[in-house]
Amino acid sequence: MEDKKANIVAASSVITLIIFIIVARVSLKLSHTFFLICGAGIAVILAVFAWLIIRRHYNCRRKLMESNYASEGRELRIEYSFLRRVAGVPTKFRYKELEDATDHFQALLGKGASASVYKGILSDGTPVAVKKLDAEERREKEFRSEVAAIASLQHVNLVRLLGYCCVPAGPRFLVYDFISNGSLDSWIFSRKERPNRRGGCLSWDLRYRVAVDVAKALSYLHHDCRSRILHLDVKPENILLDESYRAVVADFGLSKLMGKDESRIMITIRGTRGYLAPEWLLEHGISEKSDVYSYGMVLLEMIGGRRNISFVEKGNDRSQRKRQYFPKTVSEKMREGKLMEVVDQRLIESGGIDEREVKKLVHIALWCIQERARLRPSMSHVVDMIEGRVTVEEPPDTNMVVVDFLAIDEEPANGHERPKIAAALATKQVDSKDASTSTCSYANAMSSISPR
Ligand SMILES: Nc1ncnc2c1ncn2[C@@H]1O[C@H](COP(=O)(O)OP(=O)(O)O)[C@@H](O)[C@H]1O
Ligand SMILES: [Mg+2]
Repeated sequence: MEDKKANIVAASSVITLIIFIIVARVSLKLSHTFFLICGAGIAVILAVFAWLIIRRHYNCRRKLMESNYASEGRELRIEYSFLRRVAGVPTKFRYKELEDATDHFQALLGKGASASVYKGILSDGTPVAVKKLDAEERREKEFRSEVAAIASLQHVNLVRLLGYCCVPAGPRFLVYDFISNGSLDSWIFSRKERPNRRGGCLSWDLRYRVAVDVAKALSYLHHDCRSRILHLDVKPENILLDESYRAVVADFGLSKLMGKDESRIMITIRGTRGYLAPEWLLEHGISEKSDVYSYGMVLLEMIGGRRNISFVEKGNDRSQRKRQYFPKTVSEKMREGKLMEVVDQRLIESGGIDEREVKKLVHIALWCIQERARLRPSMSHVVDMIEGRVTVEEPPDTNMVVVDFLAIDEEPANGHERPKIAAALATKQVDSKDASTSTCSYANAMSSISPR
């Protein structure tokens, strides 16, 4: 635009000068004054041309430099975003980007205790899952825990955090890789539980592979990261399956970082009933063995294709419902040598189950859910057992008194259950040392955990 203006000014001044010379020629004839004016006019015209040429040359150079800078900047930006992606550094998204990606948060993938997760597609075509946490203090904590735990982790069996978004005084968002087959619960439990959700019956081989994948993910968190990471909410809803049914552990909202030299940490009770290790209820702290416990519970649910805690109705009377505690049944069947009776009936019907694998998984699961934390194996040991590098001994019997009362809270029969439980805990010596402190913050604790 500036160039155009300069050209117009130059052209109009040259034309004016030429007209002026012509007028001078006509009025002054070939006099001295005319030659003087003519000479001056031609000099000015030449100066204007020279100015135009110099200006043009200078502008060309400036434009070239500008375009060089621009392309360098663009390359740098591309390189930077590529490096961020490769290094797994989460990107900060603008709210508008997420709104566009999810088409105004239309497609709900799932809803947990703290967040809703929506499907989205980023502008570069990457499919994502956008987790929306409401603007509450508790959710803010979960957001921070999740970012702190997962931001720098790279493991094939852990969900990858691509980015985040914070709306001032509004919700928080976490952007994850989209995992196409959803959560494990839809693939092991009967569809009656959630008829509208996508899912099916996962074959035995795939269940076994999921068991390996989850064990590896937890072993990585417990043993191979700079600071130990406790997941603290291991359950089928937080295990996702990718397009080839490989397991990806997700939901680090309740996770906790633990120093390498710490053996236990004290935190308020969190997690989901039925998967919580007994030591949660003792005032002595928890460790990575609490994840091992939850893992054992998930293994049993995968084997049985049913929830560990369930209710069977006696006739039509709802008040006559009887609670069934599956781990106890499994333990009894193991002693009777009738392990195949606990396997998911659908798998038995479809065939192709390796009995040795069933026995191995059941044994590992029962080791993992030992009430004494120190009897449970570490996750790296579980990986070795499951992959056949070490033999799996038959697990010792366990009373399961603590886990039993966790179930009672699902449907308290009367107001006396809790004191009864606290007393049971104290006398049953869950962990000989721990039990002395176990007069239990149970009643408070139970009110703060999610029922599932
Ligand atoms: N990356 C993902 N890809 C596909 N589905 C997902 C993804 N993340 C979560 N979901 C779905 O959303 C549900 C809730 O997500 P989750 O992170 O566990 O939230 P919450 O913290 O509320 O429990 C999951 O059980 C799963 O069905
Ligand atoms: Mg969850």
